[in-house]
Amino acid sequence: MTHPLRLGLAGLGTVGAGVVKIVQSHADLLMARAGRGIEITAVSAKDRSKDRGIDLGAYHWEDDPVKLAQRDDIDVFVELIGGDDGPAKASVEAAIAAKKHVVTANKAMLAHYGQPLAEAAEAADVALSFEAAVAGGIPVIKALSESLAANRIKRVMGVMNGTCNYILTRMETDHVPYETVFADARKLGYLEADPTLDVGGIDAGHKLALLSAIAFGARVNFAGVELEGIERISITDIEQAADMGFRIKLLGVAQLTGRGLEQRMQPCLVPANSPLGQLENAMNMVVIEGDSCGQIVLRGAGAGAGPTASAVMGDVIGIARGFRLPTFGQPASTLEDIQPAQASAPAAFYLRLSLKDAPGALHKITGALGDAGVSINRMRQYAHKDTAAPVIIVTHKTTRAELDFAIEGMAGTGVILDEPVAIRIEDV
Ligand code: HSE
Repeated sequence: MTHPLRLGLAGLGTVGAGVVKIVQSHADLLMARAGRGIEITAVSAKDRSKDRGIDLGAYHWEDDPVKLAQRDDIDVFVELIGGDDGPAKASVEAAIAAKKHVVTANKAMLAHYGQPLAEAAEAADVALSFEAAVAGGIPVIKALSESLAANRIKRVMGVMNGTCNYILTRMETDHVPYETVFADARKLGYLEADPTLDVGGIDAGHKLALLSAIAFGARVNFAGVELEGIERISITDIEQAADMGFRIKLLGVAQLTGRGLEQRMQPCLVPANSPLGQLENAMNMVVIEGDSCGQIVLRGAGAGAGPTASAVMGDVIGIARGFRLPTFGQPASTLEDIQPAQASAPAAFYLRLSLKDAPGALHKITGALGDAGVSINRMRQYAHKDTAAPVIIVTHKTTRAELDFAIEGMAGTGVILDEPVAIRIEDV
């Protein structure tokens, strides 16, 4: 019988501990599915003495993940350290140089260095697999690069940051402001050490860049992702959107248009009755549209020990079975340097304005929209007590450039009290 596949596991946080639990508790199942045993040989983490609720007694310990990656008694290096650079990247590079397969959950590292790492892995004839890096337990990498490989992909969309979806859902259901839910998310341990990664859209943007690479045969281009976080979304926006049949989601959209590769991660209004509109709490959803398959909707937990470890182990089993797919679904040398779209596809926009409550204020605002060629679909000014009049405008489809021109025009009217909030309405 083939010898067991031997893992070196770097990073023993929530996901690392989840991997240990699966390896220890599912040994027979892994053996049956992989056709050989899967065992952990050695581990590495920052703090050896920490109680993680798992038994690490049978494994060698390495303080340095690079040394772990270079050990002769491992076949696969499992990187669960995190961070785009530093020990994660150094140890992955060391593993590839030592001809070890790599399984990683590190979206930040791949979003920044995916191309050179994929090239290095291919040159060394080892796997570099990252199912766990995008949407946790949802098998979207395999869906795109294997099952849907015969499709020309038209569009990929996703809610891929559970923390943001939790914050937006709770703001709506409990009518509490962003700051309160943000504090709750921190208490629940949902936020990354640097919360901007979550609420600034960066973590989800990393994931979108990885999906784009596979979907469109492009070199990963995180710098080409238009990023906007959820920090400026208010309960007013959420309630006004709901009243018009929409919900606000931090939505990623990637599509190849005549203008280039469009990659956006930003708050959007989506129809409340659409699958994306119905996604609650910390769940993730990825929607893939292919020319043959039509629309595919994948929903599941995007984080947490079980779901993410499940994805890690799926990749490990693939390696044990002898699968060697190029990292981004096709040889790295064939991935194209596709230019980022200079302009996003036209869309309707939701605009929230705070206006001086004075005669002619609305006239000036609608004039600025008209001068920019932006047509109004709906408009409401709702009841207010103070001197700032809250006005909501929904435009017909327009370009972002025209809308920005209109907003610039409004700034010169003297009736705008706060910076306008503009949110795209996505056809999903
Ligand atoms: N912080 C992420 C989320 C999980 O909230 O979805 C890791 O990418």
